[in-house]
Amino acid sequence: MDTPPRLKLAIQKSGRLTDNSLDLLVRCGLKYSRAKDQLLCFGENMPLDVLLVRDDDIPDLVQEDVCELGIVGLNVVEEKRLGFRARGVEPLFEQVMTLDYGRCRLSVALPEDQRYDGPASLAGRRIATTYPNILARWLADRGVAAQVVTLSGAVEIAPRLGRADLICDLVSTGSTLAANHLREVETVLESQAVLIRTPVPVAEEKREWMDRLVKRMDGVQQVRESKYIMLHAPREALPLIASLLPGSEHPTIVPLEGTTEKVAVHAVCRENVFWETLESLKAAGASAILVLPVEKMLP
Ligand code: PRP
Ligand code: ZN
Repeated sequence: MDTPPRLKLAIQKSGRLTDNSLDLLVRCGLKYSRAKDQLLCFGENMPLDVLLVRDDDIPDLVQEDVCELGIVGLNVVEEKRLGFRARGVEPLFEQVMTLDYGRCRLSVALPEDQRYDGPASLAGRRIATTYPNILARWLADRGVAAQVVTLSGAVEIAPRLGRADLICDLVSTGSTLAANHLREVETVLESQAVLIRTPVPVAEEKREWMDRLVKRMDGVQQVRESKYIMLHAPREALPLIASLLPGSEHPTIVPLEGTTEKVAVHAVCRENVFWETLESLKAAGASAILVLPVEKMLP
């Protein structure tokens, strides 16, 4: 019996992207069972296997065509891309879309008791990082000749150990920097989770599932912020009310039984609806305002 070819998607094993990535896949309709070793999620209702790996390995797995897809931080993608290019190797991973989680930034930081006088003051100084390629590009763009000290981890303790004068590392909450008495002074790269894919053609059956998954991910992202809003509005206030609905294109206008002055307005808002918006709608004459979450959307 022929088993259909299975798509392989790599995600981070344990870290800032893991839970959100699995959650995204579940929202895309995936039902999975997790292998005993916890390193593979087997898709039960889709021909999809999710590999749980170290985030730094994800672009390589796509590069080597072991996985067709990967979800990883832009920081890792950029670092690998520049690294491959520097070695004369064409990167074989394409960014499909950014995902709305995993936001963090790659920043330069220095001991909090030291002053900082802008990028030029970094000349001749040692900067420890696990992102040597991104940092080197940032320095080169500014014409600064600093010394990049490549470490494989524990970057935040490098200044204390005397291995470097400054660091360039990921910052999300800032608690690692605070705990190590370091002060953030420059943002080198803003990062978030991205979906990458192989540019190598894949078998028809796999490609169909790949396209479906990408469309579903897009749909999931669109609904996260979206709300369905219903309200009653005086006819003459319609233009003003429509202009107050955040990110909605064509509201539906429905007549109301027993009145010609008022109508019902139904609209999908592509942005979050805040209390302030409701208050403005009310002030514009709206009543019976109802805001509902959107579960699924296929544009
Ligand atoms: C980064 C970075 C810091 C921490 C910063 O590591 O190296 O240790 O996160 O986060 P905070 O500002 O919230 O304290 P990460 O967990 O991403 O591990 P990795 O770089 O080894 O993938
Ligand atoms: Zn990592």
